[in-house]
Amino acid sequence: VRGDGTRVFDLTMQAGHKEFRAGSKTPTWGFNGDYLGPTLRAKRGEKVQVRVRNTLDEHSTVHWHGMHLPARMDGGPHQMVAPGASWAPHWTVHQPAATLWYHPHPHGRTEKHVQRGLAGMFLLDDERSAKLPLPKRYGVDDLPVVVQDVRFDGADFDHDHRLMANSGFLGDRTMVNGTLAPYKVVQDELVRLRLLNASTARVYDFGFTDGRQFSLIGTDGGLLEEPAALERVQLSPGERAEIVVRMEPGERAVLRSFPQKNYGDFWQTRFNGGDDTFDVLQLRAADTLRPSPELPAELGEPKLPDGSDSVRGRFFGLQTSGINGKAMAMDRIDETVTRGTSETWTVRNHDGVPHNFHVHDVQFRVLEVDGRQPPPELRGAKDTVFVPSGRTVKLAMRFTGPADPDTPYMYHCHLLYHEDGGMMGQFVVV
Ligand code: C2O
Ligand code: CU
Ligand code: CU
Repeated sequence: VRGDGTRVFDLTMQAGHKEFRAGSKTPTWGFNGDYLGPTLRAKRGEKVQVRVRNTLDEHSTVHWHGMHLPARMDGGPHQMVAPGASWAPHWTVHQPAATLWYHPHPHGRTEKHVQRGLAGMFLLDDERSAKLPLPKRYGVDDLPVVVQDVRFDGADFDHDHRLMANSGFLGDRTMVNGTLAPYKVVQDELVRLRLLNASTARVYDFGFTDGRQFSLIGTDGGLLEEPAALERVQLSPGERAEIVVRMEPGERAVLRSFPQKNYGDFWQTRFNGGDDTFDVLQLRAADTLRPSPELPAELGEPKLPDGSDSVRGRFFGLQTSGINGKAMAMDRIDETVTRGTSETWTVRNHDGVPHNFHVHDVQFRVLEVDGRQPPPELRGAKDTVFVPSGRTVKLAMRFTGPADPDTPYMYHCHLLYHEDGGMMGQFVVV
């Protein structure tokens, strides 16, 4: 923390090697290390600055996914950092406690940059979250769980494996926080997992192998109003979920990704990895566990627009070739929204491939999924939502500014192969 109260972070994008498997060193990229990046953490109301340094031999950017901030600080494809150059965005945190993340966003190259290892978590806290009796000892009973699928070709990553259908790269195994076959010894009755799907194309349907229930406490943009008891939570690329699981002394609980239910028809499921199963993380409980306080009945107070004050509706048709029939163009502004207003965005996938939809700068409420009330995992603050083939989602969001007619934010499919291929558009707040 600097004298003026600004919390300063240093992030260096660098090349390295990591020994994922004994005796074999894989070329990687990372922030401040060989693979992935440090967890950044700040409080609501705090000023932050990140000093980004690019020591790679390619242009890149760092985008703060889920963060509400000025467009110039967003780290989208207009804020490129040249090899050897630095960039120091700064902003004030004006949003509730949440599990956000950061990753590169160079147009056309995002998939490659994330696959090589550039991603990290950005956690936000607020006064309310600090007081709630939730598991909150980082690395002890509050665990970051960055899930990625990978495939190796000898010592190297194989980043080019694609099945017939075209959701993008699909790996044949998963890692958590850059570790293959991960397990974690836990010593508390309640364990909080901050799940992040940092994979480039794969969708997960997380649950436990014994079918136990867990409590969903948070979604992309923060805590739910109240915990929801679930057995499964589906996360497409870019989405987050915070869950709390109860452990018994001495047991092992396995977090698995199950074959998908909401994933399109048989062929789409089959050829986009939708019927794959992965054991993602094993929790090993110590023989005696520290008692944890009961989960509170009420958590956050997400102030999400409900559509009633929307001044305008917009429609976004998703196809691999582009959004609303247009492939991304860096010099074209697709939508202009007015600062201080709410809007309702309807997003429809009329393609034969799964997609999702991510909007920069805002957290939205999912009003409807195919005309029906959304399931509990889509009832909190969201910035990314899965939109499989044939589905229509209706989203309400408020653009609080600041205005900047010259610098756009992005909306796009977060299956990075699609994003790179042009499934992205630009909006400005004026
Ligand atoms: Cu996580 Cu525009 O990205
Ligand atoms: Cu984003
Ligand atoms: Cu897509």
